[in-house]
Amino acid sequence: MEAALNLTNKVALIAGGTGGLGQHIATELQSRGCTVITCSRSQNGESHHISADLRSPDSAQQAISHVVEKYGSLDIVVNAMGVVAFGEIGTTSIDTIEEVFLTNTFGHIFLVQAALPHMPKGSVLVGISGVIAEQNLPGMSVYGASKAAVRSFDEAMSREARKNGVRIIDARPPHTETGLASRAIAGTAPKFPVGLDPEIVAKRIVAAIASGETDLPSTAFSN
Ligand SMILES: NC(=O)c1ccc[n+]([C@@H]2O[C@H](COP(=O)([O-])OP(=O)(O)OC[C@H]3O[C@@H](n4cnc5c(N)ncnc54)[C@H](OP(=O)(O)O)[C@@H]3O)[C@@H](O)[C@H]2O)c1
Repeated sequence: MEAALNLTNKVALIAGGTGGLGQHIATELQSRGCTVITCSRSQNGESHHISADLRSPDSAQQAISHVVEKYGSLDIVVNAMGVVAFGEIGTTSIDTIEEVFLTNTFGHIFLVQAALPHMPKGSVLVGISGVIAEQNLPGMSVYGASKAAVRSFDEAMSREARKNGVRIIDARPPHTETGLASRAIAGTAPKFPVGLDPEIVAKRIVAAIASGETDLPSTAFSN
């Protein structure tokens, strides 16, 4: 546990803030007093939304610069963007492998690299690798590997960033009912048991941001 963070009047950027988890994280942070800026590829007409494809390092830099210049600070960054693909490796295309890693792994690394120099002491950055980063599964190897890399990156970052007083949380929620599996970029999802409620998962992540927690393993979501 590190120092708690008072969320009132903090500036939070949610990459993937229009998604099933991201929009609940955005709502929860807003209800606790944050100014929330969302970022994703789609346009949603909201004034606090940035439309950008975060597979590009330049786009990540531009999104971060925009937030810092327009809102004057960057106290919380949550990376809730991602794509999933299913299928055994023999039937998975190179394009699919590249898109999964570009979005989930490279996109995360680019975002963290762009954000960290602007984050003040006491600020918090959250990666959402997921339970798959604790145990990969057949038929999900590429997605799972992209997320295990995120978890590993976050592990190193938590020690690198501590020097500047920035807290990194790697969140590994179990399967959650956001519809992500039905939007797979390739393959068909296996039959999963009913997943967690995204609102509850989002509230758990925001509680960790506020309370000073430094890691959110899958077991942290079980009750
Ligand atoms: N749902 C689960 O069971 C579960 C469990 C553990 C971890 N996770 C992880 O949690 C994160 C959020 O998942 P979710 O279920 O909320 O998925 P989701 O509902 O599909 O949301 C994904 C978000 O990412 C954005 N996005 C995708 N590609 C992007 C890109 N290139 N640039 C910018 N934004 C991009 C999407 O918006 P646009 O399409 O408009 O760009 C959307 O806002 C993902 O990293 C996922 O792997 C999910």
